[in-house]
Amino acid sequence: MVNILITQHIGDAAVQRLRDAGHAVTYRDETTPMTPAELQTAVRTAAGLVCLLTDRVDTAVLNAAPHLKMIANVAVGYDNIDLAAATARGILVSNTPDVLTETTADHAFALLLAIARRIPEADAFMRAGKYQRFELFPPLLGLDVYGKTLGIVGMGRIGTAVARRGALGFGMKVLYTAKSEKTAVAQELGAEWVSLAELLRRSDFVSINTPYTPETRHLFTLDTLRQMKPTACLINTARGPIVKEDDLLAALRDGVIWGAALDVFEAEPQMTPGLAEHHERLVVAPHLGSATGETRRNMAATAVTNLLAGLAGQQPPNALNPQVWQGTPL
Ligand code: DGY
Repeated sequence: MVNILITQHIGDAAVQRLRDAGHAVTYRDETTPMTPAELQTAVRTAAGLVCLLTDRVDTAVLNAAPHLKMIANVAVGYDNIDLAAATARGILVSNTPDVLTETTADHAFALLLAIARRIPEADAFMRAGKYQRFELFPPLLGLDVYGKTLGIVGMGRIGTAVARRGALGFGMKVLYTAKSEKTAVAQELGAEWVSLAELLRRSDFVSINTPYTPETRHLFTLDTLRQMKPTACLINTARGPIVKEDDLLAALRDGVIWGAALDVFEAEPQMTPGLAEHHERLVVAPHLGSATGETRRNMAATAVTNLLAGLAGQQPPNALNPQVWQGTPL
């Protein structure tokens, strides 16, 4: 039996599994994160930590947690955790890949279609009573999607799932960037491995699906956006700081690109001043990529499965630093 801290609401079923396994669970059933000071206090006696992407687990938290053996993040992205510092302390860290792949790809594609066909603008137009008559060339003309070129920045699990939707569902030509060529995907979808510059130059839709790291911070600046076609759209369902939001706003205002759809923001939950007021050809959503009830429950269950495995001395299925796994109960 060990002490486990769950920092925020993850649903009773997942919590119960930890209790049923005999652990002493402190469940903070809240939907807001703790302050850094509160987290540092709360984690003091914990051997296991279940946290969300809004919990920053940095060296200050790790220093305040002398008994901590494992962190189970309820997210696939883990930029909220100092993985190197946790690894140096021998603390196992896990994430929740796979269970959210298709759901997040659905959302990326929903945003792509929403921006291309101006769905939120059309909805607002109707509700404002502005629809007077059918016109051959209405004010809300959109963009074709079928048969266009889709650029995937980061061909991991989610990027591949977005690419499949584009190639198989919408007859799109797929270009992608990745550290190495993905031959199986290339064969399946006819996808082409290209440089970022080539992808930006040729794509009609650019979908960001790469993790947030020091290398991808502000990957999209005005300079990058200027390399895109003026008729192209940017879709970001990865992490906000990959796009410099001030620059994106300037690019939208000046018509550097046609449109953008954002599910994530640079200083989430805030938006860069001016962005919320910019209604034309900009679709925004509050980080809903994986947000279906089923998928979020599966994410919580996956985090708990990882933690229970680690605590029992088994290698967690989604360990991010398996090198620290000792093969003994934690
Ligand atoms: C993640 O898991 O990293 C997403 O951003 C939320 O599902």
